[in-house]
Amino acid sequence: MTAARLHIDPAFVVGPVRPRMFGSFVEHMGRCVYGGIYDPGHESADEDGFRADVLELVRELGVTMVRYPGGNFVSGYRWEDGVGPADERATRLDLAWRTTETNAFGLNEFMRWARKADVEPMMAMNLGTRGVHEAVDLLEYCNHPGGTTLSGLRAEHGTAEPHGVRLWCLGNELDGPWQLGAKTAAEYGRLAATVARALRQYDPDLELVACGSSNRQMPTFGSWEATVLEETYDVVDMISAHAYYEVVGDDVASFLASSVDMDRFIDDVVATADHVGAKRSSTKRIDISFDEWNVWYNAERKARGFPVGWPQAPRISEDDYTVADAVVVGSLLITLVRHSDRVAAACQAQLVNTIGSIRTEPEGPAWRQTIFYPFAHVANAAKGVVLSPQVDAPTVETARYGPVLAIDTVATFDEATGDLTVFAVNRDPSQAVDLDVSLAAFDGATLERAVLLADDDWRAANTRQDPERVVPVAHPGAQVVDGELRASLPPASWNVFSLRAGRRADQPGD
Ligand code: AHR
Repeated sequence: MTAARLHIDPAFVVGPVRPRMFGSFVEHMGRCVYGGIYDPGHESADEDGFRADVLELVRELGVTMVRYPGGNFVSGYRWEDGVGPADERATRLDLAWRTTETNAFGLNEFMRWARKADVEPMMAMNLGTRGVHEAVDLLEYCNHPGGTTLSGLRAEHGTAEPHGVRLWCLGNELDGPWQLGAKTAAEYGRLAATVARALRQYDPDLELVACGSSNRQMPTFGSWEATVLEETYDVVDMISAHAYYEVVGDDVASFLASSVDMDRFIDDVVATADHVGAKRSSTKRIDISFDEWNVWYNAERKARGFPVGWPQAPRISEDDYTVADAVVVGSLLITLVRHSDRVAAACQAQLVNTIGSIRTEPEGPAWRQTIFYPFAHVANAAKGVVLSPQVDAPTVETARYGPVLAIDTVATFDEATGDLTVFAVNRDPSQAVDLDVSLAAFDGATLERAVLLADDDWRAANTRQDPERVVPVAHPGAQVVDGELRASLPPASWNVFSLRAGRRADQPGD
């Protein structure tokens, strides 16, 4: 057993908790849409064909925003195919995932689903095979109230009210050679800037996201962001970042430390964006939209290869997530929240079945994967402002990142309600850590609830046969004593401590 000490203080504010931090992602990939959120034949389907059991889990998960319709899929997508009478919609080959797309579900269905799920839509545009014209048409179809052909068409399609989409991604991963219409940074930067200007001619208040690198290992990482932002700095609000992690062999220690990479990724993109801003003497700051992040067993998917025979909605990347995966997801969320000064939006990729937190079976149930729980805990409990704890913790030796702190943590505090929440993971795969949190800067702290997710078997997962094999439990022994929160964090564990506290009267206000 080793020991760690945290010091949290209401004065150590990073920034407000950003509601868009708890986004997710629905792509036309595998069974995320068809057989996931949309399954008219399922017994729980509502009048729109949406699975009610999935909608209920999405609300429980606490998702605030959903990115749609891709991903790699969007780079070959014609949005017009997915609107209008269902029986007149085109059936197309989807070259990204080598499947057949029926277009039975499209833009208006997604907007209806988003309203029912109570999430903000974040729409991605195709800047792979398409350009300015199609982008402004899509905006007009979505957002113009009426009196034009495209807005009239939307009304004819059953949606008289404009969708009012504020947040738009200018393409997806266009630095990736796998992407339909992949571009050099200069080509993409130019196109993204031209599209952004055109969109702003309709509505200057839109929030626009330029594509950053597909991951931090891309050979063009850093220079891509710099070149794209040289072109787009004045006309976009955010630059995207994407990252997926998986355990390699038995190296669970490195895997549990994956957030070290995300942490550096964020710092690198912020530094690059600020460098471009400094050269322009700009007071504007470009934020990050971390609009794809998760654990993804992508090496296995690649080894299996693409589906054969152009099937409709085949099973792709339906990973059974383990306890270790849940701990990593918790740690990645902690990292995102800790950077809420510059990460303005984030989407866990994806929502259902494909790389999803929720799994479904046709003619069967929907259930929560292990990774559902840390997301639900943070999305539902993080309120007010983000506090950066001072951490004094032992280190764990990792092959990939060297020595890393065993404890990864962040706290949030809502002064109005007194809700103070400490989220922590123990990244040590084999040693428990005794945690002491100093609450000296708070008044009358009480522990309202403490939750633990851990297991003797880090490979334990929830399956159809055993959907509740891994569930959070009350934290054994957690208590507040003499102004300190004390708990023992088991190896490879996810921990949440919900306290009620006041700011000490002699502490400075915000
Ligand atoms: O989320 C799965 C895929 O990962 C997305 O389509 C793509 O943008 C990324 O490479």
